[in-house]
Amino acid sequence: MTPAAAWLCWASLLLLARWSQPCPGGCDCFVHKVFCADEKLAAIPPDIPPDATDLVFVETEFTEVAPRAFSGSPNLTKVVFLNTQLQRFRPDAFAGLRRLQDLEVTGSNFSLSGDTFVNLTSLGQITLSFDKLHALPEDLFHGLDVLESLQLQGNQLQTLPRGIFQPLRHLKSLNLEQNRLEWLPEGLLDPLSCLRSLRLSDNKLSQGLPRGTFAALRSLEELFLDSNAICELPPELFSGLSRLERLWLQHNAISHLPPTVFSDLGSLTSLSLQGNALRTLPAGLFAHTPHLLSLSLSHNQLASVVEGAFANLSSLASLTLSHNAIVRLPAGVFRGLQGLVKLYLGSNNLTALPAGLFYNLSSLQLLNLSRNQLSSLPEGLFNTNYNLFNLALHGNPWQCDCHLAWLSSWLRLWSDQLLHTRTYCAGPAHLRGQAVPALNEEQLVCAASGHPGLDHKAAEGGWDAVPENKAARSRCTYSNAEGTVVLACEAGQCRWLSVQLSPRQGAGFQAMTYNASQGWDLRSSCGSVRVTVSVGDLAAGP
Ligand SMILES: *[C@@H]1O[C@H](CO)[C@@H](O)[C@H](O)[C@H]1NC(C)=O
Ligand SMILES: *[C@@H]1O[C@H](CO)[C@@H](O)[C@H](O)[C@H]1NC(C)=O
Ligand SMILES: *[C@@H]1O[C@H](CO)[C@@H](O)[C@H](O)[C@H]1NC(C)=O
Ligand SMILES: *[C@@H]1O[C@H](CO)[C@@H](O)[C@H](O)[C@H]1NC(C)=O
Ligand SMILES: *[C@@H]1O[C@H](CO)[C@@H](O)[C@H](O)[C@H]1NC(C)=O
Ligand SMILES: *[C@@H]1O[C@H](CO)[C@@H](O)[C@H](O)[C@H]1NC(C)=O
Ligand SMILES: *[C@@H]1O[C@H](CO)[C@@H](O)[C@H](O)[C@H]1NC(C)=O
Ligand SMILES: *[C@@H]1O[C@H](CO)[C@@H](O)[C@H](O)[C@H]1NC(C)=O
Repeated sequence: MTPAAAWLCWASLLLLARWSQPCPGGCDCFVHKVFCADEKLAAIPPDIPPDATDLVFVETEFTEVAPRAFSGSPNLTKVVFLNTQLQRFRPDAFAGLRRLQDLEVTGSNFSLSGDTFVNLTSLGQITLSFDKLHALPEDLFHGLDVLESLQLQGNQLQTLPRGIFQPLRHLKSLNLEQNRLEWLPEGLLDPLSCLRSLRLSDNKLSQGLPRGTFAALRSLEELFLDSNAICELPPELFSGLSRLERLWLQHNAISHLPPTVFSDLGSLTSLSLQGNALRTLPAGLFAHTPHLLSLSLSHNQLASVVEGAFANLSSLASLTLSHNAIVRLPAGVFRGLQGLVKLYLGSNNLTALPAGLFYNLSSLQLLNLSRNQLSSLPEGLFNTNYNLFNLALHGNPWQCDCHLAWLSSWLRLWSDQLLHTRTYCAGPAHLRGQAVPALNEEQLVCAASGHPGLDHKAAEGGWDAVPENKAARSRCTYSNAEGTVVLACEAGQCRWLSVQLSPRQGAGFQAMTYNASQGWDLRSSCGSVRVTVSVGDLAAGP
């Protein structure tokens, strides 16, 4: 809609509204909806249309709401005050609003007395955000049996009266983020057995989480405890939370975790421990969270990770270990993570990787090894990572010699070149500063090249994997340099294909004097083919 059309539409709505019934000065009336944004309004207007259901005040300057202020419009279901000068509701302010479902006061300097919400028994949602609230009366929510959503973020609450949530047996969402809570009284959350979402981010919680704090929250699906000052988690803190799917513990000061702390969280799919002070992970920490999809441990102080740390996480799709102090990783640490798609290992202190580290991670699409101390990688490291196209390697002191030749050609074939413009050689001196994938085989040599004969490179000699058509990528062709073997296939069928070539008996072959068999994984941008060539003297004879 053009601005002019929008204005016309607005104007005609206004006309219609004004035509059919009077609208209070300083307000705009629409069908059942009234918006008052005139700062000069001195009070709630007495002449709000009686059939109004929604009433919104924006940046008005009156400071209090008088008793029975809304008695002329008993059908109000929603009343909102946004960035107004409101300081208080007089007793009985909402008298008669038996249908009120949604009450919001956001951005005021505001205080509440215990009877503010009395008799508002239809209220389903209360929002009191960024209101500079210092304290809440214990009986504030008395009688609000059907309340489902309570939003109290951005206030200055330091604690809460122990019984304040007692009436809220149907509450589903409680938001207390950005307050100053240092502790939670024992039993505070016990009545909230229907609660699904609890947000306590950005408070000052430290020791104040006794072990039974969340014990009664049987329906809880997400729990935000991030950006507090928590340094320790009692072993049973999360016990009973069998429906919990998302747990946010990032940006605290947790330095160690009890091995069983997550063991009741059988439904957990997402866990963030980013930005804590963890130095180790206890074995078996994730043994009972088999549905975990996303796990972040970045920005901790992990120096190593034990072999079985991630056992059982066969659904895990994203694992973030970046920004730690990891020096080495055991060969089997990622074993069994069949579902892993993204693995972040950047900004650690890794100096070498074991050959089988990424073995069987066939779903892996993104691997970040940036900003480590790696000078080389074992040949064939990515041989079973058939879906790996996004590899970040920059910020390592790559030693560009014969040991890196395989990586250079792997990058050219398999990885987006743009990713590697900053993947530089640190040595030898004459190659320093060159981009690794830009180097050819003649440049990637070792000074004292050793043994002659059929080493792996020589055997691989004639094979090239040529992505036939970069744009279409519909077919891939493999051919050897002599031009005697060409193998082409449609992209969809190439992957995982296994081809075996053997000489046929009697077809004019000379008798063989040796038997040999060798296999290669041939890769191109559209797939991977396993080719095995066996040469044998089946035809041996006269
Ligand atoms: C309030 O709503 C009821 C039911 O929807 C309706 O019958 C009644 O006329 C409304 N009252 C006013 C003043 O519009
Ligand atoms: C908020 O209101 C109180 C009194 O109700 C007053 O003392 C305080 O200065 C006010 N704060 C701001 C930021 O206006
Ligand atoms: C609340 O409702 C009860 C019963 O309907 C009534 O007696 C009482 O006066 C009401 N209180 C207020 C403050 O409106
Ligand atoms: C988790 O792993 C342990 C052994 O490490 C095994 O006993 C247990 O059955 C596994 N649980 C699941 C759910 O896979
Ligand atoms: C990495 O190792 C070096 C040398 O051992 C050490 O000086 C440095 O502090 C380590 N960095 C991290 C992030 O642990
Ligand atoms: C890889 O990790 C480095 C260092 O941790 C980071 O700067 C970079 O943004 C990451 N890249 C991707 C694609 O995740
Ligand atoms: C590799 O994966 C296959 C199939 O998922 C599995 O049967 C095999 O045991 C795995 N091997 C190792 C060493 O994990
Ligand atoms: C080659 O293998 C065939 C069948 O396995 C065997 O009969 C033959 O003796 C072998 N030849 C040599 C030279 O080892």
